Amino acid sequence: MSLKGRHFLSMLDLAGEQILQVLETARSLKATGALRAAAGGRGPLEGRTLAMIFQKPSLRTRVSFETGMTQLGGHAIYLAPSDISLGARETTEDIAQVLSRYVDLIMARVFGHNIVEDLARHATVPVINGLSDYEHPCQILADFQTIVERKGTLRGVKACYIGDGNNVAHSLMLGAARVGMHMTVITPPQYEPQAEVQRRAADAAQATGARIAVANDLAAAKGADVLYTDVWASMGQESEAAARKKVFAQYRIDAGTMKLADKDAVVLHCLPAHYGDEIDYATSRLPNSAIFDQAENRMHAQKALMLHLLGCA
Ligand code: CP
Ligand code: NVA
Repeated sequence: MSLKGRHFLSMLDLAGEQILQVLETARSLKATGALRAAAGGRGPLEGRTLAMIFQKPSLRTRVSFETGMTQLGGHAIYLAPSDISLGARETTEDIAQVLSRYVDLIMARVFGHNIVEDLARHATVPVINGLSDYEHPCQILADFQTIVERKGTLRGVKACYIGDGNNVAHSLMLGAARVGMHMTVITPPQYEPQAEVQRRAADAAQATGARIAVANDLAAAKGADVLYTDVWASMGQESEAAARKKVFAQYRIDAGTMKLADKDAVVLHCLPAHYGDEIDYATSRLPNSAIFDQAENRMHAQKALMLHLLGCA
């Protein structure tokens, strides 16, 4: 099941087996990367170029993609929000057409998910969603790699996300459904994942037996093998941050939530973190915490993804 030439906009764009294939390539790259670098020589993506479009800020996504491309022998071009003013200076369609004449891959971090869909519709090269308001699938590849490192598997693992039913929660639910990982998303009332995502996750879960649930009560975190959280106000929701602080006050990972979960529960956060809000600093530094492994794995997982999309894996 080759991924050559495909777009990666959603976790549902990959079958469960394909997710596992990408993760296996990522594992191998991580294990042998240093050796290959020491051996020198030409990388598999020599002469290839990745265009990276950003409508929002980034540390991990930008640096992991750019460094990953360099390590594979290719080149990445950073296009800041002010560089191309996507949708204002020229249309998404024209940007997709023009970039496709120059580069081999396009990665985009955008507000509306329709923008990555438009890019994919009009590009003749693979388009990767580097985060939209609706999904953050590259993050979930790295998260899955991290869970496998700590728990040995995804299938049957009981993961619990606490916080806002946002892009990261959406991609976690859809990805979990694909690979047979159980996923409970706990949010305050009114902040649940979108109903459409809940339906699509439930549909996908039928094939794998994943139990996908949404709850408002923190007790649903009981016995979790993985505890995951993300910021209460995502990029673009800054004006709601103060109001959300009150609504979300209990929906956090701290000593109390750790007591509810399994004693060996892995703590995950996609970062950036707001310590004292969705996670406290002490919990983020426990041996159970894998937040910096997650950040590192962004690079390995995305290198693997790019190799697969370009048919070079
Ligand atoms: N987790 C993540 O996507 O981080 P950045 O926003 O820094 O890219
Ligand atoms: N939900 C967060 C994720 C940041 C990586 C946001 O969209 O801002």
